[in-house]
Amino acid sequence: MSAILVAHGSKHGSTAEIAEVIGERLRSQGHTVDVCPAGDVRDLAGYDAIVVGSGVYMFHWQKDAMNLLKRHEAALRSRPTWLFSSGPTGGSEKADAAVEEARRSPSAFPAPKEVAQRMERIGARGHATFPGAVGEGMGGIFERWVPKGDWRDFDAIRAWADVIAAELSRTPLRLEEPVAPAG
Ligand SMILES: Cc1cc2nc3c(=O)[nH]c(=O)nc-3n(C[C@H](O)[C@H](O)[C@H](O)COP(=O)(O)O)c2cc1C
Repeated sequence: MSAILVAHGSKHGSTAEIAEVIGERLRSQGHTVDVCPAGDVRDLAGYDAIVVGSGVYMFHWQKDAMNLLKRHEAALRSRPTWLFSSGPTGGSEKADAAVEEARRSPSAFPAPKEVAQRMERIGARGHATFPGAVGEGMGGIFERWVPKGDWRDFDAIRAWADVIAAELSRTPLRLEEPVAPAG
């Protein structure tokens, strides 16, 4: 069984809840899982596999989650890594259509551009987009205008965690890390 880190960039908590559900599901299948904010991550050495997710704001991931991908690129490249984005949210015709599209096919929904680029560098196994939530407490200058609601689908999120668990059960966990030549 694997030691897995699920790290999240969550401004208002709904992505952190998604990360907790993923962690819970992986634990239920026998894995040891830590779930924590991306900004708290110092070292990936103790983990066999990594999941990183973030809420999307104005087409961008939260800084801490993005920085994790940049700072730990080498460690992520040598471990099975999965990414997820939380957002879109609904409340208008166009936004509801985006939510529907993400629900229909979380893995086909385009990741934010900078995330797609990092994904390639890391060689991430996959990226999923899950509809998010906007709480009443969001009172920032832009946040006030965003329709409130919770569009998260925790069954779909658990199903994605199951895909991760299934892949981990059939693939080698770490690529060979380079060994310095003797002498
Ligand atoms: C001001 C604002 C801007 C947002 N911008 C986007 C966006 O560009 N793309 C998207 O998919 N979702 C967007 N969302 C939806 C958030 O990603 C969603 O609410 C997410 O679940 C928030 O995660 P958090 O609670 O972990 O911070 C936005 C929400 C707010 C309030």
